[in-house]
Amino acid sequence: MSEKGIGYAKTILLGEHFVVYGIPAIAIGLPRKLEVEIQNSDHMQIVPNSDEKVVQSMEAIKKAMNITDNFIIKIKSEIPLGCGLGSSAALCVGFVRALSNKYKLNLSNELISSYAYEGEKIYHKTPSGIDNTLATFGGAILFQKAPEKNIIKPLKIGAALFIVIGNTGKRIKGTGEIVADVRAKKEKNPELYAYLFDAEKKIIELALNAIEQGKVQELGELMNVNQGLLSAIGVSSKENEEIIQKARECGALGAKLTGAGLGGCCVILAENKKNAELIVNEIKKIGYNAFSIVVEKN
Ligand code: PMV
Repeated sequence: MSEKGIGYAKTILLGEHFVVYGIPAIAIGLPRKLEVEIQNSDHMQIVPNSDEKVVQSMEAIKKAMNITDNFIIKIKSEIPLGCGLGSSAALCVGFVRALSNKYKLNLSNELISSYAYEGEKIYHKTPSGIDNTLATFGGAILFQKAPEKNIIKPLKIGAALFIVIGNTGKRIKGTGEIVADVRAKKEKNPELYAYLFDAEKKIIELALNAIEQGKVQELGELMNVNQGLLSAIGVSSKENEEIIQKARECGALGAKLTGAGLGGCCVILAENKKNAELIVNEIKKIGYNAFSIVVEKN
């Protein structure tokens, strides 16, 4: 008999990379899911066939959960893989949920997320935990990594957010490598990076207020400034910049890369539904994929 489990995609609206070092970040769960189906087997096998890291990650989760059985793991994903929307975390969460169903463990979301984190470490070495949190809980949250227990606060959304995701379709490096590159730069130039980190902290503080108050123009401007910082720490690419530029030409309120960067996806704040549609179409015209979602006022 087979069991299934689901994990969700996410977009980081503000704060990627800085979140690894304890600065809060703002993220939104996306209505795109990844489904994992497991079936007992005498060996571990992923379908469709994927790299060794995926098997290692599933093994790390099994170890954390004290499970020694082997499985054929079938993956069905609506989330484009490896492009900043948290597909690896969704896979880890889907696997934990499938195991929880199989062994009738009735795991809480907190536990699902923490087991998934063990799998995430294989891909990203020092993940902040934001991806597995969003892949488990969804919604719109403020996330802050903390030594004892991460802080996760649901956000009050003061006005609907018209979000466009533009996908460059390629990644120059994996998340773990990009995070390591940023760490090396930070260690080489601590004084400058302390200054950049303070700026990011302020951006998040102001953005939180803008989201709560429904000040979307202000939020867009903060996303643009955040992109400036991401570019300053060296994680933007020509393709990210092309999408961002196109979105701004179409009247976007704000646009930046989302996730680890160096390709992957961009997150754009459109003015309204019509503007979001225009941005999606124009991004497609320059050869990239795009889709839009609405985060409703709550
Ligand atoms: O590109 P993704 O989906 O792997 O997102 C990574 C987000 C980072 O902040 C760069 C790393 C992390 O662990 O938070």
